[in-house]
Amino acid sequence: MADLFAAGGKRIRPALVLLAAKIGTYDLDLLSPAAMAVELTHAATLVHDDVIDRATVRRGRPTVAARLGDEPAIVVGDYYFAKAYEQAANTQAPEVVTILADAVMKICAGEVRQQAIRHQYQATLDEYMPRIEAKTATLLAASCDIGALLGGLAAAPRAHLRDYGRLLGLAFQIADDVLDYTGTEDEVGKPIGHDIAEGFATLPLMLAMEEASIAGRLSPLLRSGHELSAVEAEQVVALVRSSQGPQRAIERARSLASDARHELETIGGGEAVQTLSALTDYVVSRKL
Ligand code: IPE
Ligand code: IPE
Ligand code: MG
Ligand code: MG
Repeated sequence: MADLFAAGGKRIRPALVLLAAKIGTYDLDLLSPAAMAVELTHAATLVHDDVIDRATVRRGRPTVAARLGDEPAIVVGDYYFAKAYEQAANTQAPEVVTILADAVMKICAGEVRQQAIRHQYQATLDEYMPRIEAKTATLLAASCDIGALLGGLAAAPRAHLRDYGRLLGLAFQIADDVLDYTGTEDEVGKPIGHDIAEGFATLPLMLAMEEASIAGRLSPLLRSGHELSAVEAEQVVALVRSSQGPQRAIERARSLASDARHELETIGGGEAVQTLSALTDYVVSRKL
């Protein structure tokens, strides 16, 4: 059960809890369980996600599902969820449990919606943005919200921090979707080209499809309902990489990261706010 945590991970969500709280009152006895709760929730979604996505590598190591099988992975994920709520309860603030539960329900609803469009490659922004909001931005927003709550922040800065987390999460997920096309497995610690191989169109592909010459070569591969072979998936990745799609997607991520930074403006200075601000650059320039 400890292996996934031993492998590290960026731990951006617990960092958000701690940094948001640091703007106000910083009581580690309450914040440590809250920070653990969001990371455990994240880990639970990853273990289950790797079952759904049939992923073999996570954080540079075999996934729980690849190592132990799908059934144990489902149980391990469930255990992490339970452990997360136990830690949330240890904060002595029922609202922390409510915020976390609400985030997980949104993540699940997003996951169910995403399954419905698997192998449908005609994604639009109207579908993509709510998809990445549900699966990623929700938990980053919740992490900021929990930190702000436990830090005793007033309603207005708390709302700005929640919006900051949401926008940061959208930028973060777009960058993740770009790395799925442009990264290397060694750096990212998970397989490259996996999104399209599993039947999911993401922003770099959607933008590549706006280039007529690329679209002409992609369309025959991306027939609705068709499951791509490994060779076809590699062809799609090569075409997307040769297009402006990844670059334009990163520009969109940068713009959302900049919107996130603006949310911090009214909160004032201080080291914690500066670090939150620096995170908006990090999420769109990261290589892992
Ligand atoms: C992976 O999250 C899943 C996404 C939301 C993209 P992270 O990129 O935060 O994963 P770790 O925790 O650093 O491994
Ligand atoms: C993961 O989304 C989001 C959740 C775990 C809810 P992805 O499927 O894009 O994440 P990776 O690429 O496997 O980390
Ligand atoms: Mg996945
Ligand atoms: Mg991904």
